[in-house]
Amino acid sequence: MSGLAIHEARLLGRLHALGQIGRDGENRLTRLAASDTDRAGRDALVGWLREADLDVVVDRIGNIFGIWRTHANAAEAPLLLGSHIDTVIDAGIYDGCYGVLAGLEVIETLRAAGLTPVRPIAVAAFTNEEGVRYAPDMMGSLVHAGGLSVEEALASIGTDGTTLGAELERIGYAGVAEPGFLRPHAYVELHIEQGPVLEREGVPIGAVATLQGISWQRVVMEGTANHAGTTPMSMRRDAGYAAARVIAFVNEQARKAHDPSVATVGCIAFEPNAINVIPARATFTVDLRDPDEARLAAGEAALAIFLDEVAASEGVSVSVERLARFSPVAFDAGIVALIEQAAAGRGLAYQRMTSGAGHDAQMMARMAPAAMIFVPSLGGISHNPREHTPQADLVAGANVLLDVVACLADAKGDRHGYGS
Ligand code: GLV
Ligand code: MN
Ligand code: MN
Repeated sequence: MSGLAIHEARLLGRLHALGQIGRDGENRLTRLAASDTDRAGRDALVGWLREADLDVVVDRIGNIFGIWRTHANAAEAPLLLGSHIDTVIDAGIYDGCYGVLAGLEVIETLRAAGLTPVRPIAVAAFTNEEGVRYAPDMMGSLVHAGGLSVEEALASIGTDGTTLGAELERIGYAGVAEPGFLRPHAYVELHIEQGPVLEREGVPIGAVATLQGISWQRVVMEGTANHAGTTPMSMRRDAGYAAARVIAFVNEQARKAHDPSVATVGCIAFEPNAINVIPARATFTVDLRDPDEARLAAGEAALAIFLDEVAASEGVSVSVERLARFSPVAFDAGIVALIEQAAAGRGLAYQRMTSGAGHDAQMMARMAPAAMIFVPSLGGISHNPREHTPQADLVAGANVLLDVVACLADAKGDRHGYGS
């Protein structure tokens, strides 16, 4: 234990202040990556990083870093904390923002205590974690970790037809640093669970040991527009009905595979989208997730076979575009154990768990030992304005992060020394 405590009011105050940035006339919170509202959120964050006297660096993919280094430790690899501040549509205030602001809070707490860590400590807000406007998700951290070239990422076309690179320029967050410039000693991300496990178990701290694989695809089915009243059922090439069959199929497949396989069709558009016209085109997304790589791959293979069957039986054509594909990740056992020790040191119950959501830590694990700390989400609700975590849990999670950071930033020597 560090013997220190984070400044609760400062952390909660910033979390609520950031949660007011990007609200529309109906009070809905939306900060899609590289949008005007994202710019406003970024500006607030950068203001806080500067107030804390951190070096602020923005890289070419728009990732923002606040770095605390001293003359004595500048040559050491930094300990990196972070998450994201972009949101889904009509979001809650905690997803991502909690990890970024808690990272900043931990740095300020250590600094105010006069501690001089053996290595720099930095906090990152990664661009486009949500992947709502530009695919793939976790894009900023993926580029940072070398999994996608910055050129390819900047060329991504958004759901609104914009290009990420041009939008980052427009909002003033196309930085000059080369992604990957900061090679961390380790990466730790604090996040709300976004699922029901911790609340159900009555446990305040999750030590996240694994994160499930993610498969995102966009499917386009093309049939023929025709009159809804005059076209006999046997003569239809109905792209809408074909899509509905696929929606039912992926749902049933995941149910058959049992927990924890999940499948979602979250987006669908019909063309021409009229009450009395058979859909000529259906465009929809498929999100499959599974902690087991073989089962995830089997789900994808079954979908591919079913798409061919539907195409043949409904007389439609099918094209599939892969938007994202990430294998399950096992986090660093040493850091996971450290999180458990830190929770125990504060008298907090904890449990090991798998993350159902995607996170930047999943990408950072490619370049450094990484792990995550979860706190409960009431009702398991997230990606929804009703997302909520009690203040006591938010504070407890940030204090556990503080202790983990105090330990990792003081650890000298080989960067794998505490890991496995
Ligand atoms: C990110 O929020 C994801 O898991 O989709
Ligand atoms: Mn998140
Ligand atoms: Mn999210």
